[in-house]
Amino acid sequence: MNSLFFLTIFLVFIFQTSVTGVDIHYPFTTLSGFDLFHKDNITTIHFPSYGDLTVKSISYDRRKIDLLDPKNCVPRVFLNLNLTLTPFQYYYVLQNYTYLNCSTTLPHTNFMEVPCLSDSNSHVYTVDPQVSIPSSCKRVKTVAIPFKYSPYISDNSLGLRLTWKLREPEEIKQGNKTRDSYTARNTVFGLSICFVVMATIVGIIKVHLFTKNLHKKEEQLLGDF
Ligand SMILES: *[C@@H]1O[C@H](CO)[C@@H](O)[C@H](O)[C@H]1NC(C)=O
Ligand SMILES: *[C@@H]1O[C@H](CO)[C@@H](O)[C@H](O)[C@H]1NC(C)=O
Ligand SMILES: *[C@@H]1O[C@H](CO)[C@@H](O)[C@H](O)[C@H]1NC(C)=O
Ligand SMILES: *[C@@H]1O[C@H](CO)[C@@H](O)[C@H](O)[C@H]1NC(C)=O
Ligand SMILES: *[C@@H]1O[C@H](CO)[C@@H](O)[C@H](O)[C@H]1NC(C)=O
Repeated sequence: MNSLFFLTIFLVFIFQTSVTGVDIHYPFTTLSGFDLFHKDNITTIHFPSYGDLTVKSISYDRRKIDLLDPKNCVPRVFLNLNLTLTPFQYYYVLQNYTYLNCSTTLPHTNFMEVPCLSDSNSHVYTVDPQVSIPSSCKRVKTVAIPFKYSPYISDNSLGLRLTWKLREPEEIKQGNKTRDSYTARNTVFGLSICFVVMATIVGIIKVHLFTKNLHKKEEQLLGDF
């Protein structure tokens, strides 16, 4: 009986370990077009609209990935990164901002120049789309992004937190497949348990009957004397 008990525990353990870890790697799969690259302990992810971003951390449970820009210019990432055709979206609430490219500097009191996008001839600003465009400026693009540029809160990762949509259609199908095989496995498991239990019961009954018969025979033998 003891060995049977341990066998059952062992089986339960095996089944549990094989069930955990189902499609843990979505959306970072070749299927979705987003592979993670590892090199010299640095993990990067490639976005066609921008280029490579460094992976700081990933939480599969909370569906979030923290990135940082190896080129140290998050406003440029915001300007170019287009997540429309990817499984990803910004983790934060977005707001539209207009990027301006100006030939002269604008008054500091109202406008903050983005240093990493500017040089001595062009001065770049992120402004509210309602702001009337000064004559020395051209509108580059209006984009929905988490933050406009601020010198006080600028580092190479602020705002670069993404989340991903639940699943692509083919992943849902795969999910169904794994769920189906999971169900099948559970059924097989349940049936084996039933079988083991029944075999045990039959065994116990047999032993019981055998000893009963033995007693009967003994009684008969004793009765004969
Ligand atoms: C990667 O990290 C490990 C452990 O932190 C370290 O021993 C190893 O030297 C690192 N390799 C590189 C290329 O930085
Ligand atoms: C992002 O890409 C989509 C599809 O290619 C396009 O329709 C959209 O205008 C782009 N968005 C921006 C802000 O460039
Ligand atoms: C940004 O502007 C576009 C076009 O006017 C609009 O469709 C979109 O909803 C706006 N996005 C946000 C986050 O306000
Ligand atoms: C701003 O304009 C200058 C000159 O036309 C150009 O070289 C630069 O790339 C532009 N910057 C942005 C962010 O569009
Ligand atoms: C996946 O299973 C759900 C119900 O379990 C069903 O409604 C859905 O149509 C299935 N999807 C596919 C792609 O088979």
